[in-house]
Amino acid sequence: MQTRLLTMRDDEGRGVRVPRESRRVSESKTVVARVMMPQDANIAGNVFGGTILKLVDEICYVVATKHARTNIVTASVDSMRFLSPVHVGDLLTLKANVNAVWHTSMEVGVRIEAEDPRAAEVRHTGSSYITLVALDPAGKPCEVPELLLETPVDERRNQEACRRRARRLEEKAMDMSLSS
Ligand SMILES: CC(C)(COP(=O)(O)OP(=O)(O)OC[C@H]1O[C@@H](n2cnc3c(N)ncnc32)[C@H](O)[C@@H]1OP(=O)(O)O)[C@@H](O)C(=O)NCCC(=O)NCCS
Repeated sequence: MQTRLLTMRDDEGRGVRVPRESRRVSESKTVVARVMMPQDANIAGNVFGGTILKLVDEICYVVATKHARTNIVTASVDSMRFLSPVHVGDLLTLKANVNAVWHTSMEVGVRIEAEDPRAAEVRHTGSSYITLVALDPAGKPCEVPELLLETPVDERRNQEACRRRARRLEEKAMDMSLSS
């Protein structure tokens, strides 16, 4: 964790230097693995999308909480793509990190891999992008620490996340103008 000084305006318009925390992408990056059991699947042995979505929501909660160190809620599932089926007995591995932070919200990206441990073949089986919001003890959205990008991959993911947010805000503005 690092602390940077930001210039803010006080009530009389004077510039004041205030600390804003920042954390590196690697500080909240998380990996979880779970074997898929019969209760996770339908009668043909295909794992339910909802089983995977729940694991995605949980890992995003962990990543966002480690970044913001406060209470977190899921605001939107921006994208959930299932690329190939997952079966009972597969080892499912989810890898997640913060892609971008804005004021009180952040996007977490998840890569989902499945592997039959007997075959040692890893498949990229899904990807997801989730927006989560940090809440203060009163339940109001609160500012999240800045994100320090460490690698070219972090930079690319950050730019893609900013484009997704811009599209989401454009769609919201269009919906509002159509309904007014
Ligand atoms: C998410 C929530 C806290 C936003 O509260 P709000 O009063 O609308 O807050 P604001 O309009 O000030 O927005 C706060 C931030 O949330 C983001 N946000 C709000 N709604 C969003 C949505 N549907 N998708 C993505 N981001 C959203 C805003 O962009 C803003 O981000 P920023 O500060 O980084 O610019 C509120 O809608 C909520 O509590 N929802 C229920 C969350 C929940 O319980 N999830 C679990 C499943 S039910």
